[in-house]
Amino acid sequence: MDPSTPLTIFELRALRPEALDVLDRQPPEGLFGPLAASLAGLHVEADFAFLFFVQEVDLSPFLAAQPLLELRTVHRLRYDQWQDGLEGRPLKVGPLTVRPCLRAVEVPAGQDELGGRPPERRPQRAARRDEPLDELLIDPGLAFGYGGHPTTKTCLEFLLRLYRPGPLPTGPPPATALDLGCGTGILALAAVRLGAAEALGVDHSHLAADAARRNVRLNRLEGRVKIERGWAQTWSAHPAELLTANLPLFVLRDLAALEAFKGRRCLIVSGLLQEEGAAFLDLLAPAFRVVDAVRSDRWASYLLQASTKV
Ligand SMILES: C[S@@+](CC[C@H](N)C(=O)[O-])C[C@H]1O[C@@H](n2cnc3c(N)ncnc32)[C@H](O)[C@@H]1O
Repeated sequence: MDPSTPLTIFELRALRPEALDVLDRQPPEGLFGPLAASLAGLHVEADFAFLFFVQEVDLSPFLAAQPLLELRTVHRLRYDQWQDGLEGRPLKVGPLTVRPCLRAVEVPAGQDELGGRPPERRPQRAARRDEPLDELLIDPGLAFGYGGHPTTKTCLEFLLRLYRPGPLPTGPPPATALDLGCGTGILALAAVRLGAAEALGVDHSHLAADAARRNVRLNRLEGRVKIERGWAQTWSAHPAELLTANLPLFVLRDLAALEAFKGRRCLIVSGLLQEEGAAFLDLLAPAFRVVDAVRSDRWASYLLQASTKV
């Protein structure tokens, strides 16, 4: 998306949880009529829905038809402001560089260069096959996770600890990774870039799953990173040595209650508020022990290891 694209973002709250189902059931044309043409994305999180339009629109006919969806706020800002002005600012996490690509285009397989256009009009390129191992290209679209948020950044730091030689007693680097709530796919992609053989990313949001699939292609990791649209709870039993989950507490709690969630060697858990951390860790004890804990801003993130080998 062009960084200067004006966004109108409607934040809606569901007065009853089932009120959000309509957003999943009906195609945008059915919900928004002609406005669907300027709908750039739709994201549902807990009791809230965020509707992203690329121009000013009148949502009142839709709202009148959905009395259980309450309009909370309308945000008006440019796309680069929504993404925190990140364009052109690569993010360094140790030796890993995450390059944001707000206007990425996809390059057909086997075609590495985009010659022919003046440099100022040349869109950012997809990764070449010889891209440095520690570099990721991320086009966040409207999804969460270009790397700058403290909860994501700490997960990337933990991944580096697992995949780069160091004093941690976590054993050999995990060969397989499952990323629940993958957003842009950044953690699944980073795990593979850093050394995992394969990873699966899962997100219930169409917007996130689409962005993550785009990023898999941008980084030319189609053979090794798969993305599924679905609920973390449903996919929690997918076998993988490492599980990464940067998710809100209520989802993490659900997951911790599932035996299958625990059946792996390493866990990276993020998205908890600092005051939520201790109680959540109690849910994982004694199956897991904390290898490292980082508090950053208002957030707490943990790297955990299975107490007995699984
Ligand atoms: C905080 S973002 C994390 C994105 C990325 N993993 C990162 O670390 O930057 C949480 C993501 O989880 C997704 N999510 C929230 N609840 C979920 C659930 N129950 N099942 C699947 N995905 C969920 C959201 O759509 C969002 O993309």
